[in-house]
Amino acid sequence: MSIELQLAYDHVSSDDEFTWFDEETLGMAEFEHATVMLDEVVEGVIATATEGGLIIDATLGGGGHSEAILERRHDLRVIGFDRDPRAIEASSKRLERFGDRFRCMQTAFSEGGELLDELTREPVVGICADLGISSPQIDDPARGMSFRHSGPLDMRMDTTSGETALELIGRLDADELADLIYRFGEERRSRRIARTIKRAFDEDELATTADLRRAIVRAVGPARIGGVDPATRTFQGLRIAVNREIDELEKLLLWATARIAPGMSFAVLSFHSLEDRLVKELFRQGEVWKPMTKKPRIASDDEVTRNPRARSAKLRVARRLPLPEVDE
Ligand SMILES: C[S@@+](CC[C@H](N)C(=O)[O-])C[C@H]1O[C@@H](n2cnc3c(N)ncnc32)[C@H](O)[C@@H]1O
Repeated sequence: MSIELQLAYDHVSSDDEFTWFDEETLGMAEFEHATVMLDEVVEGVIATATEGGLIIDATLGGGGHSEAILERRHDLRVIGFDRDPRAIEASSKRLERFGDRFRCMQTAFSEGGELLDELTREPVVGICADLGISSPQIDDPARGMSFRHSGPLDMRMDTTSGETALELIGRLDADELADLIYRFGEERRSRRIARTIKRAFDEDELATTADLRRAIVRAVGPARIGGVDPATRTFQGLRIAVNREIDELEKLLLWATARIAPGMSFAVLSFHSLEDRLVKELFRQGEVWKPMTKKPRIASDDEVTRNPRARSAKLRVARRLPLPEVDE
């Protein structure tokens, strides 16, 4: 299985190593994200794109994939989505120089299809999605996604709406919480962990990511199993639930299938086995999609050495098949 968060937390082993958040610097971290499998994603999408067409980048982040698409194909235009206002700000600045070849919108990509229809009915000649979180989202203590730095228990990608991790923990009972930690975090000790988290919440001892990690360690001990911090899986499970990441992906896959033009390519980079399974199942629909490779592509050893986050990436690219001719 892929444990995306593990990569960011590889060196965390005790409370002493936390960076504590400070109100003055909350949200001020630089937006720097090393784009994963840049060439593989970009070449996969532009290989089939017809001249002068429109590409959708469903997960702009820092704009790395979009930038390469716009640089390599001067005839193409890109519309990008991201639910994170900071990603929109950062990528707008980075891609400003492309003028009206680039537009972006702050939105969850589940809504992207409808927004796109309101904007234009022109055919889409390529779509890419680089799922999960960006490095700035992990590294900024204000986002509450990491136990490496102590921050408020938030975890939302879209900081302007929706329920925070703390609110979610407060709303769910221990069984529901255990279910989501088990499903999305693939954590076998989920029942014990969920009960301890709920106890900490009820006793008003749960406000920060450090409090959450402390509760998890209280439940299962501090040992790292297979090099994984005891809190890694629970943090991942909560983040996926807070951001409804699996629902979001299901909706994206639906509208992308409906909206992409026949013969054009869809590239999806995923970091979690549940996500990869959904993409694999979609691309298996032989009358609709033709996968470019049987197995997902993975990052080269070189890239993984440079950027450990690429270690769990799986890339699937498929071409939309022409719609079958219907006899009148
Ligand atoms: C891995 S980063 C993308 C990085 C980007 N490809 C680059 O090279 O800079 C993933 C981005 O997708 C965004 N994201 C994740 N799920 C989303 C969703 N359901 N709707 C919109 N944006 C989402 C995150 O906010 C994050 O900025």
